Amino acid sequence: TTSFSLAVVGGDGIGPEVTAQALAVLDVVAPAHGLSFATTDYDLGARRYHATGETLPDSVLEEIRGHDAILLGAVGDPSVPSGVLERGLLLKLRFALDHYVNLRPSKLYSGVATPLGDHVTSRGDIDFVVVREGTEGPYVGNGGAIRVGTPHELATEVSINTAFGVERVVRDAFARAQARPRKKLTLVHKNNVLVHAGHLWTRTVDAVATEFPEVSVDYLHVDAATIFLVTDPARFDVIVTDNLFGDILTDLAAAITGGIGLAASGNVNPDGTAPSMFEPVHGSAPDIAGQSKADPTAAILSGGMLLDHLGFPEAAAQITAAVEADITERSSTPRSTEEVGEAIASRVAGGVPVG
Ligand code: NAD
Ligand code: IPM
Ligand code: MN
Repeated sequence: TTSFSLAVVGGDGIGPEVTAQALAVLDVVAPAHGLSFATTDYDLGARRYHATGETLPDSVLEEIRGHDAILLGAVGDPSVPSGVLERGLLLKLRFALDHYVNLRPSKLYSGVATPLGDHVTSRGDIDFVVVREGTEGPYVGNGGAIRVGTPHELATEVSINTAFGVERVVRDAFARAQARPRKKLTLVHKNNVLVHAGHLWTRTVDAVATEFPEVSVDYLHVDAATIFLVTDPARFDVIVTDNLFGDILTDLAAAITGGIGLAASGNVNPDGTAPSMFEPVHGSAPDIAGQSKADPTAAILSGGMLLDHLGFPEAAAQITAAVEADITERSSTPRSTEEVGEAIASRVAGGVPVG
């Protein structure tokens, strides 16, 4: 048995509820693959912030760094000023652990309700992955405000794009496109307006493309990309984009493929210099927190991505197959968070055929 250490940050709102189900499913799938997990729970988020004023103390960050992987629920609470936990905990983890590939797959499973019409879904399979840059862009916190609260207030939020940072994520996206059957990469940016960063991204894609002659390259402005995600999502295979565009596009991508309750993600450090972190795309959903209403599927699929990342693709596929079977057979009767988790766990335990 190979044992892995997992740092678990349930976080706020529905975060701990969905994470518990993801862990339960991991526990069911692990033994058959010669795997076991030693988990450390980290009490981080709104409760800790109110109790101690801390978001992510450096000593805790260093402890977390010592694990093989991180499973995170969600961060953010209405009782804490917006941005304090998001920046001080979630983004601090992504930046400190150099999660430069924010991997967000989108797939429309058969039988899943989508707001898209038949004429759209009949155009082809919706199965793409967004490779969102995770350490730069407007997220770095380069900005400030002066004369706050006056009519002369001035606020900036500068998007940082480095040749190093853009090139490494673009190269990763090309490698992923190369490994997929359709071998297609779409750069999404806004190089008609954001000419400085936009041209850096475009030039970088053009340059790296020469290393991947089999990959076909496409470009869309981000506004047009939102059109095609709704009217013709089958055109996408791998999308590479910056941190903020990727954030927005992946909520849209979730909405067209069955909803935010199904969208999983990985914050990947491809170089292995720090543990990667897996979390649903959704947030802490304060509107349904504490009611066992949250869909844990996204968290469970994020656990699958974690297994894949650790080198257990068959175990990951077992989770995906169990989820797929569950969501295909979902009825309109609402189920609790626990009921969904247990249904998926028992399908895994029952050995749903893989492939
Ligand atoms: P949200 O994703 O939390 O919620 C948006 C809507 O989706 C809500 O109606 C919510 O009930 C619903 N929803 C989300 N997850 C669901 C699930 N698993 N099952 C069923 N319904 C679900 O986004 P928001 O409302 O913009 O943000 C709420 C808080 O979460 C904020 O503090 C925000 O900063 C934070 N946030 C954190 C993360 C993260 O930790 N990765 C991601 C997004 C937002
Ligand atoms: C996400 C969230 C985060 C982001 C926030 C909470 C910092 O929206 O994971 O998609 O913008 O990356
Ligand atoms: Mn988001």
